[in-house]
Amino acid sequence: MTDEKYKELSLKEFTKAAEVYETDRAGVYKMCKKDYPDVLSELEREPFEDLLDCGCGTAPMLTLLHEKYPEKHLTGIDLTPKMIEVAKAKNMENVELVVGDCEDLPFEDCSFDAVICCQSFHHYPNVQKFFDSVQRVLRPGGRLILRDMTARTGAARWLMNNVEMPVINLAGHGDVHVYGKDEVRTLCRNAGLNMEIFEKRDFFRLHCVARRPVESRQVQLGDVEETALIPLCIKASESRRRAPRISDPKAVEIVSTLAIDTDKYDKYFSHEGVVARTVLIDETAGHLLEKYPDAAVINLGCGFDDRFSRLDNGSAHWYQVDLPDSIEVRKKLFAPHERQTLISADLSTDSWFEDIPKDRVTIVIAEGLLMYFTEAQVKTLLGQISENFPRGFLLAELMHPIAAKNDRMHDTVKHTNAHFTFGVKSGRELERYQPGWELIRETSFFTVMRRYSAVGKIGDTFMRKYMNRLAVYKFKR
Ligand SMILES: C[S@@+](CC[C@H](N)C(=O)[O-])C[C@H]1O[C@@H](n2cnc3c(N)ncnc32)[C@H](O)[C@@H]1O
Repeated sequence: MTDEKYKELSLKEFTKAAEVYETDRAGVYKMCKKDYPDVLSELEREPFEDLLDCGCGTAPMLTLLHEKYPEKHLTGIDLTPKMIEVAKAKNMENVELVVGDCEDLPFEDCSFDAVICCQSFHHYPNVQKFFDSVQRVLRPGGRLILRDMTARTGAARWLMNNVEMPVINLAGHGDVHVYGKDEVRTLCRNAGLNMEIFEKRDFFRLHCVARRPVESRQVQLGDVEETALIPLCIKASESRRRAPRISDPKAVEIVSTLAIDTDKYDKYFSHEGVVARTVLIDETAGHLLEKYPDAAVINLGCGFDDRFSRLDNGSAHWYQVDLPDSIEVRKKLFAPHERQTLISADLSTDSWFEDIPKDRVTIVIAEGLLMYFTEAQVKTLLGQISENFPRGFLLAELMHPIAAKNDRMHDTVKHTNAHFTFGVKSGRELERYQPGWELIRETSFFTVMRRYSAVGKIGDTFMRKYMNRLAVYKFKR
């Protein structure tokens, strides 16, 4: 079928449906109402002034929005003149209604903070043109909220697209395609939008949020520095969940600002591991800070971590150490703070410790770091800590040698050019590198993961020793 034919069918279908669309005789279209509460609650998460509803129909969603936000500037566009005629008869102030094609939105660049589209884009034969057009009319940082049909499995979607759809077309409907996550991600990526949320929700619905990034350039980081994007994207996506286990508003803000392809950095096992690690280190460092409120906290390989905001006690000073290009990006993203010092240094060659006071308890955090070092570099680093800081604690994430050897099987690191080079079977091995060091605890991330899922419980029972863990060392000269 040609593109024109699809649109012709849609026009016919919705011209007929317009008069009854919001009545008890709406038939199958009554289902559309199921989308409105989720769109409203998604919109509530962030402020907006100008909103566009693509394929607005008779404007049921705009009516709800107009009641809730009478002062906002709302615009609706629809291909079917009869739909717009019915919508206009509602005489809503501040609501502009336009007949037009969503594949070529007739609005100025950067006109809207939010674009919503409910149960409409599966009617667009040139769907990429729609995404491109949305990217153009959105302001940098603005969001596209998409709701449409989908299926739980690829097989079910295949049946919908290849069996159900042709029958629907024969019956005179202009439906084109039912989309899955990968397809929507590709459409977003091609248009220069970051897909932030894609969920399959009740009633066979896809719920997607994509954003036009504030910065259109991709962040340029070295191979190891790039790995900092993995926990960043995971913490952002976890924070956006309806019941987040960790909250990191800064990660959400950064991911919204930068053009990052979040999907390759946010996979199930890495996600669960990063959540567990964050919970574990927050708890451990939090307890130490209660005991030593004036400590110097050294965050080695800090990346874009914002533990400082979660654990700040008003007195401890934090030293954020990372490679120069990470620190440059960090400087742009984090506001300066009197109790945070950024140190730009290569831990394996530079004297990163010189400007850090030596007269107090030191809490050193090495999260997602040592696995990228050689054994000799780990020994040197521990030696530098011992020589420069008289007493304190090291909170080190350790990896098992089998995991370190198989980095191309790691669900997210395999998408980067970084390689694991260091693993130990037990934290005792590091204790032996330095006299006066004591391993006081070694906790598998599964210990936390078992709180949240059956996978965590099974892993904790059978795979505990192969999982990354947090080793806590006490050191004293
Ligand atoms: C099922 S209705 C959904 C209406 C409304 N969004 C809602 O949720 O109730 C689909 C709407 O998409 C519109 N539509 C289909 N193709 C379109 C296109 N290329 N451009 C603009 N609107 C289109 C139809 O005219 C129809 O009003």
